Amino acid sequence: MKILGIETSCDETGVAIFDDKAGIIAQALYSQIELHSEYGGVVPELASRDHIRKLLPLVQEVMKQALAKPEDIDAVAYTAGPGLIGALLVGVGFGRALAYGWNKPALAIHHMEGHLLAPMLETDKPEFPFLALLVSGGHTQIYQVAGLGQYELLGESLDDAAGEAFDKTAKLLEIGYPGGPAISEWALKGTPGKYVFPRPMVNRPGLDLSFSGLKTFAANTIRAGDGSDQTKADIALAFEQAVVDTLAIKCKRALEQTGLKRLVVAGGVSANRRLREKLSEETKARGYQVYYPRPEFCTDNGAMIAYAGYRRFQAGCFEPLAFNAKARWPLANLS
Ligand code: KG4
Ligand code: ZN
Repeated sequence: MKILGIETSCDETGVAIFDDKAGIIAQALYSQIELHSEYGGVVPELASRDHIRKLLPLVQEVMKQALAKPEDIDAVAYTAGPGLIGALLVGVGFGRALAYGWNKPALAIHHMEGHLLAPMLETDKPEFPFLALLVSGGHTQIYQVAGLGQYELLGESLDDAAGEAFDKTAKLLEIGYPGGPAISEWALKGTPGKYVFPRPMVNRPGLDLSFSGLKTFAANTIRAGDGSDQTKADIALAFEQAVVDTLAIKCKRALEQTGLKRLVVAGGVSANRRLREKLSEETKARGYQVYYPRPEFCTDNGAMIAYAGYRRFQAGCFEPLAFNAKARWPLANLS
């Protein structure tokens, strides 16, 4: 069985084909980073227009890579939300129409379910149940996952998502966009202990998080500093350590609270090396297992949508002809 997956929820056009016997057999990704970097963040209308330009050529490219004809494809899966509504509508309209034209079932995929299932594309796959930390540019959430579509939200960021905090802090430091990879790179040259940032909400009970205060703390530290490259690196390091520590503390608390033994970490920020090292260290010491997607599947991609489509196909979750995109869509509302 082969599922074509389409992702257009933000600034990446991703297309891939998942085969139930061979795994991901074709994939193509076009990142709009260059287009948006001039503005220091994603410009929604430009994103939609670029998806329109790139989607059809990318679908043609993966079909060619897989040596597949339309009749070889069993269903078309596309991200239906959450995300930028214009960008989503490009993928949803195209995906639903393609499924109709090919006379195949269509599958509307929740973007965060795509992220959450992405570690299952690796050889060492997590089995249900597990705890999931979803850390992206739009979401920072901790879920208790009992099975496909059974997602109980245990805690989330009350303000900025972790990725958003990386992006905003990088903008303040004037070190580039997207902020996550830029901060990580600058942090490598940082002096440990030069600055210490707070670990927000760790002294409060519960699993909610908050990252907007860290961004303000960074702004004040930058203002008081000398603006040198070394100071930027020192601030990048202190900021990154604070985000990583805070996420690790909340994960440990959630694992203890739920009694779960497996932790899945996914979403763009799960590509962060320091976060992966910290969580691997801490979970190993306590006998837990931790699972991540490979770095290229941490950020947005078509492969995770094709895979989620495969799981949804097996569960019989087919879409009617009418299509819909949702800018906001709580993961806990899935079934
Ligand atoms: O999952 P994603 O590609 O898109 C959303 O669904 O939001 O996540 C993008 C976010 C951006 O905020 C980006 O700065 C962050 O992931 N990110 C990282 C790293 N790579 C991407 N954050 C920290 N460290 C990284 N290496
Ligand atoms: Zn994403």
